[in-house]
Amino acid sequence: SSPSSTTKIPDNNTVARTPNPKFIPDLEINLKAAPKTVQILSGQPTQVWSYAAELVKGDPNSLQAIPDSYLGPIIRVRQGQRVRVNFQNNLPQGQPSIVHWHGLILPEDMDGHPRFAIDPGQTYVYEFEVVNRAGTNWFHPHPDMLTGQQAYAGLAGLFIVTDPEEAALKLPTGAYEVPIVLQDRTLDASNQLLYLGSKIGTPRNGGGMGGMEGMGGMSQGNSSQSSGGMDDMGGMMGFLGKQLFVNGKPDFTLAAATRVYRLRILNGSNARIYKLAWSNGDPLTVIGTDGSLLSQPVTRKYVMLAPGERLDVWADFSKLKVGTQLALNSLAFSGAENVDGNSMGGMSSSNAPELGAAMTLFNVKIARTETETLQIPSKLAALPLLRPEDAINAAQPRPVELSLQGMKWVMNGKPFEMNVATPQETVKLNSIEQWEIINKLNPGAMMDAKGMAHPIHLHGVQFQVISRQVLPELATGWQTVKDGYVDEGLKDTVMVMPGERVKLLMKFEKYSGLFTYHCHNLEHEDAGMMRNYRIQG
Ligand code: C2O
Ligand code: CU
Repeated sequence: SSPSSTTKIPDNNTVARTPNPKFIPDLEINLKAAPKTVQILSGQPTQVWSYAAELVKGDPNSLQAIPDSYLGPIIRVRQGQRVRVNFQNNLPQGQPSIVHWHGLILPEDMDGHPRFAIDPGQTYVYEFEVVNRAGTNWFHPHPDMLTGQQAYAGLAGLFIVTDPEEAALKLPTGAYEVPIVLQDRTLDASNQLLYLGSKIGTPRNGGGMGGMEGMGGMSQGNSSQSSGGMDDMGGMMGFLGKQLFVNGKPDFTLAAATRVYRLRILNGSNARIYKLAWSNGDPLTVIGTDGSLLSQPVTRKYVMLAPGERLDVWADFSKLKVGTQLALNSLAFSGAENVDGNSMGGMSSSNAPELGAAMTLFNVKIARTETETLQIPSKLAALPLLRPEDAINAAQPRPVELSLQGMKWVMNGKPFEMNVATPQETVKLNSIEQWEIINKLNPGAMMDAKGMAHPIHLHGVQFQVISRQVLPELATGWQTVKDGYVDEGLKDTVMVMPGERVKLLMKFEKYSGLFTYHCHNLEHEDAGMMRNYRIQG
């Protein structure tokens, strides 16, 4: 296994990590985060931040681009492979960064906890063995208080794992396996990305991206040139962009054949939640969620997808005629921003659609006839599912309370602390626990912000969702989303609506160490809606 699992790691290590000569990788990649100029719209080019990747060693198919995109790359591995990634931070000064491999089970110093962030000019060497089962994982920056802006600027890639069980299934591959990264973005009149009212790549106050003064919790005044108050609200509620981008661009159209496609959909948005549905009324056929294939395919009229979550979709276009147009839409839903009184729609500072507004995500155009022979497998994965009664705390699940403190979202009443010496939750390696995420109401909250949906992500583990309940007074909004939860498989991120309590079941396997769990609304995370927890060996 990985050498780091036997090394004692100082908790506050910020020294860039160097390669271990004894680690012999199957796959080695250089991955550099750096500014890049790209053509997104006609007219002025757009400044983004992007991961540039090159293969040092291994199968050339292990490293792929997302076609025509500054997002990515796609790293493809087989379970059991040993991977080295030489991550180089070439972002502007003031932008420490670190890569988090979202969904992977890794030793603590490979996982991208904010305490390992490196400054521009430094390199961090990742060396790990892939222990996950087949699934669609992803990676993105994870520095303290800067995750939202770095991910927004274009730093996000896919990390796809396959295993022998999946390989034995006949699932669509090659051109019939399509990555779909959903993100909402706002471009200004000169085609530059705007984040909470400021351009990326416009240094202000010495920082690489301006306008982040309020990100520490919105307690300070904000000098942003446009609507500081709205930016503060964007920080508190989460950034919502004007336009929907797929794979880094607006107006995505999939020119498809009359075949079955496998859509690997990632919600890579900072805060926007989608309610996915086909425009022709066909149900969605789901074959996988965050961390695994499902035991068997499930169908849903619509599927909820919150930031950080992934969905593996079997999309059968084989019965459609050439010329058919359809769309994957996000349907309207309510209650995710549970606010009453004065209209909060304006908090998306740039007249962006509200959270829960209906929108088209992308179009599919059936462009040519091809013969399809693939059948959907009736059994997918033999998941090692746990039983609720196997948990050591089945009678009293470990509570994680989500609430608002002043203008800060907190977990169990506290904001994130980089000082890892402060007491934190401790779980035992190889134990099975239940956790209960409780999205509390905040009756007296400022601006009547009674509650928000929070996508809660745990590092270091894949979990099962075993129950959901909602407060009766919040059932109305919940009814508009609840049939879209796909809780049958393994997950690492779970959407929790206002007033909802969700029970998780999980086993902490493989690695001890200090990990984190947090809200994947990136503005919430950056403002401190995150906690450390320790897996004790
Ligand atoms: Cu995708 Cu800790 O995040
Ligand atoms: Cu949140």
